[in-house]
Amino acid sequence: MSHATILAIESSCDETAVAILRGNRLEAEILSSEISSQIDIHQEYGGVVPELASRNHSLALRPLVDKALAQAGIGLESIDAFAATAGPGLASSLLIGHTAAKAMAVASKKPFLSINHMEGHLLSPFIDSKQGIQENTSLVVSGGHTMIIQTHGYGNYALLGKTLDDAAGEAFDKVAKMIGLPYPGGPHIEKQAQSGSPDAYDFPRSMLKKPHLDFSFSGLKTAVLYTLSELNPVDGRPPEEAIPDICASFQAAVIEVLVKKTIKAAKQQNSKFITLSGGVSCNGALKNAFEEACVKNGIKLKVCSPAFTTDNAAMIAYVALHKHLNGEHSPFSCDVDPNMRLNTLVLRK
Ligand code: KG4
Ligand code: ZN
Repeated sequence: MSHATILAIESSCDETAVAILRGNRLEAEILSSEISSQIDIHQEYGGVVPELASRNHSLALRPLVDKALAQAGIGLESIDAFAATAGPGLASSLLIGHTAAKAMAVASKKPFLSINHMEGHLLSPFIDSKQGIQENTSLVVSGGHTMIIQTHGYGNYALLGKTLDDAAGEAFDKVAKMIGLPYPGGPHIEKQAQSGSPDAYDFPRSMLKKPHLDFSFSGLKTAVLYTLSELNPVDGRPPEEAIPDICASFQAAVIEVLVKKTIKAAKQQNSKFITLSGGVSCNGALKNAFEEACVKNGIKLKVCSPAFTTDNAAMIAYVALHKHLNGEHSPFSCDVDPNMRLNTLVLRK
């Protein structure tokens, strides 16, 4: 079976990442996966500042490529193809990684692969698989997307449901900001929720009763906002002692909808395998709720390994490996696309 070694760059948002991966269609070995986070830089602004992000990508990238090569113990001549995220993401950030990977490919006379970030998240549960990509019902929950996809195999995806407004991670981040917790909000809400009661507030479970598999989280965010202004009509900042209950109740509302809709999708598809990926799948309460629901319904569950859950370049290299082995190289004229969509066949019951 043919093997290849890929160097991939991820720079779609506020993490600069470089990974080197070697493998075939069934299994891959990560020779290195380096991440330089900018969270500290953006934290004081309560969100990502695009201009700052792109400047810091250009500063971090070159040393990170050297570090990834040193960690892998190989030189540029051992790389068979160079890849980078083309979208979705911030245009000025995407351009840094995309252009750098193209430049390395041109200089090395090797192929270039332009990769969709969401396909990276979607396939990330299989990076450490020994049997390649298997048919599954996939929930991708990140800061920018919430999607249920039936993954039939590499490149063969059917979109079953998506958010109609905020993504689940975006809801975590916005609610955290309203409460006064740092950016990114997900991990802080999870921590606070551990000492709160999920039943303290009865927040809405949007679209749970609807027959389709789409999501909506903006009503939930507004319900939290109303609760905060009732608790403190002056500036909406809740008293310290109320924070754990608000976080636990909000988190429970998000989790219930994600779990029920994904199980429903798997049943509709007659699927016995669910995968979870994207930044929000780090959430321990979400993982526990999925484990319980999957055991109850006789469904196998694979949650993306923590190292590949939030933005990383190993997931980009993994998609690139499959593309490269299929000979699907990108022209050097290809551009980034901040609004890039996953190439899916839309299925509706
Ligand atoms: O996949 P990711 O790193 O970037 C995007 O492509 O968006 O996801 C980032 C999102 C953020 O919204 C962050 O708050 C959320 O993932 N997140 C979490 C947790 N860790 C990260 N949400 C809930 N619980 C967590 N533990
Ligand atoms: Zn992401």
